[in-house]
Amino acid sequence: MRKKVIVVNRLEKEVLDGLKEKCDVTYFSTSSPLMDDNFKTALASAEGIIGLGLPVNNELLDLAPNVKIISNVSVGYNNLDIDEMTKRGIMATNTPDVLTDTVADTMFGLLLATARRMPELDQYVKTRQWKADLSADFYGVDVHHKTLGIIGMGKIGFAIAHRAHHGFHMNILYHNRSKKPEAEANVNASYRKLDDLLTESDYVLLITPLTKETQGMLTLREFKLMKKTGIFINGSRGHTIVEKDLITALQTKEIAAAGLDVFEKEPIEPDNPLLDMPNVVTLPHIGSSTYETELKMSKLACENLLAGLNNEKPPSLINESVWKG
Ligand code: GLV
Ligand code: GLV
Repeated sequence: MRKKVIVVNRLEKEVLDGLKEKCDVTYFSTSSPLMDDNFKTALASAEGIIGLGLPVNNELLDLAPNVKIISNVSVGYNNLDIDEMTKRGIMATNTPDVLTDTVADTMFGLLLATARRMPELDQYVKTRQWKADLSADFYGVDVHHKTLGIIGMGKIGFAIAHRAHHGFHMNILYHNRSKKPEAEANVNASYRKLDDLLTESDYVLLITPLTKETQGMLTLREFKLMKKTGIFINGSRGHTIVEKDLITALQTKEIAAAGLDVFEKEPIEPDNPLLDMPNVVTLPHIGSSTYETELKMSKLACENLLAGLNNEKPPSLINESVWKG
């Protein structure tokens, strides 16, 4: 019998079409709000769920008694209650590795765009305001040879450090749960306690997964430790910082600027003060979204899903302990 699968929010079309040939697919275009009757009916018989950003908690799992695998089309999996899934013997998978270089490109681009004020100056040129006499009002700050502090030296953090060190001769500091000898050897990165990293860095780049430990890790206290000229870049999740504290730090000039790909509320609320700050560069959570990488992520997520449905070990299984062979 064809397996019943729910697809939520995002899966590249060619992968979705391929999946439809193999499985009985119910598609929902959004991951929220999903607790309507159609979704509940689909959950009651689904064996697998694949997609982006579906909040998976007890309430949802109670409605999905037959689910064997939930396959995230993202590397971050803070939307999944892994402990609860593990307790119930449900596999969780994500899409690491295939997006590492793409996210690193985005984060470095965001850093450059923020430092050199590219979106602001783009608007200046396109609104026909360009005059012969450019004043210091238009200057940015240097990136090359400055100090970059990376919070979260995972694969993506390392790929960013590689670009920064080898391409831009930056001095690399990092903070991580464990020390990373490989990063220290390859990009000359030095480990710092969080407070020291914040104090010493010209650029602070947050790229840690959102977990119970990292939730709200940067508050006004931490932003105040940064240099007044410091630039903050967030490629992690909105909830790894306290967003209202970032807003205060920017308003009171405790830090100079920010580049943000993630927000506490996504899509961002129209009245969020960040949207009216010229020294804040915003992206719509698009770190991994290139044509090439979205396709690779969809393919990997689908491979994970089909493996789980067929009682094979998925290539990117997160909760190894549910795998009994
Ligand atoms: C994107 O934020 C991801 O987790 O893949
Ligand atoms: C997450 O930050 C990763 O490095 O995969």
